[in-house]
Amino acid sequence: MSQNNSQLAALIDLSPSVAEFRASVWAGLAQHQKTIPAKFFYDREGSRLFEEICLTPEYYPTRTEKKLLADVVSEIAGLAGPGRAVLEFGSGAGVKTRALLDRLDAPAAYVPVEISRARLVEVTSELAADYPKIQIAPVCADYTKPFNLPSVAMGVAHWLGFFPGSTIGNFTPPQAVQFLSQVRRMLGTTGLMLIGVDLRKDIAVLNAAYNDAAGVTADFNLNLLTRINRELDGDFDLSQFGHSAFYEPEQGRIEMHLISRRAQSVNVAGRAFDFAADETIHTENSYKYDVDQFRCLAASAGWSHRAVWTDSDRLFSLHLLACE
Ligand code: AVI
Repeated sequence: MSQNNSQLAALIDLSPSVAEFRASVWAGLAQHQKTIPAKFFYDREGSRLFEEICLTPEYYPTRTEKKLLADVVSEIAGLAGPGRAVLEFGSGAGVKTRALLDRLDAPAAYVPVEISRARLVEVTSELAADYPKIQIAPVCADYTKPFNLPSVAMGVAHWLGFFPGSTIGNFTPPQAVQFLSQVRRMLGTTGLMLIGVDLRKDIAVLNAAYNDAAGVTADFNLNLLTRINRELDGDFDLSQFGHSAFYEPEQGRIEMHLISRRAQSVNVAGRAFDFAADETIHTENSYKYDVDQFRCLAASAGWSHRAVWTDSDRLFSLHLLACE
């Protein structure tokens, strides 16, 4: 089970199959408002591009959350107490994980759950080398669906769920409530959940964050079509689609779309889909919440509120929730 003298367990691979990807793309492109779930952004290149977005000057969430976490992590560790196991959803590059593992008192185990298999393998082997005393049990899965925890979970008495990055904003509010309810059941009665939530703010700041001048977000969005071409034998002509992202104030969300530059027909895995000029594929929502709005959302999933921290510019929030 262990590799390189570390406590790294074998990866549990529950990643979505090509058949599932094909079924989602076919179903999504057949809708009146064409849509593809955002979780399919994260192939190896998509994960790399997302990490590059996080470094753009316009994309404030990552650096703001990192700084906020660094400022309050000792307080979080005090509230969490000793011996908690960390279950992280969408562990990505693992940068914020390190801030947490460095300060928690004797964490019992670390279970990262991530849809991008390649990134999960790289990041967990780096973490295992740097944290040899912590049992690490990676799970590659779409965590929006129920999944079984690895065997290391059997001995865990107290969990800390960790969901940074405001990825909760990529769910619609009903999906977010469903996810938070599912996590609450997984973490048990003594569970805590630390969750990063992007705050509502000036619309120009939001629009700039999803339309960076270097075009990294556009590349990230368009990479979805490259992935479909490669994995599903698609024939999207990338020069005939553009990136569109805008804040929709009524819903309180950024919407990201791929916009067809002309009328055209595209084949995916043997099926043809027609596009009118300017017709879009809706690829992502990114909801923004005020502190109280998010508190209510979490409460409707059964969570009680332990603490909340925001940065001094009130760009981003970190919520600590308790199961009871
Ligand atoms: C992963 N997620 C929280 C990012 C967001 O801000 O919604 C994904 C992203 N999409 C475009 N830029 C970043």
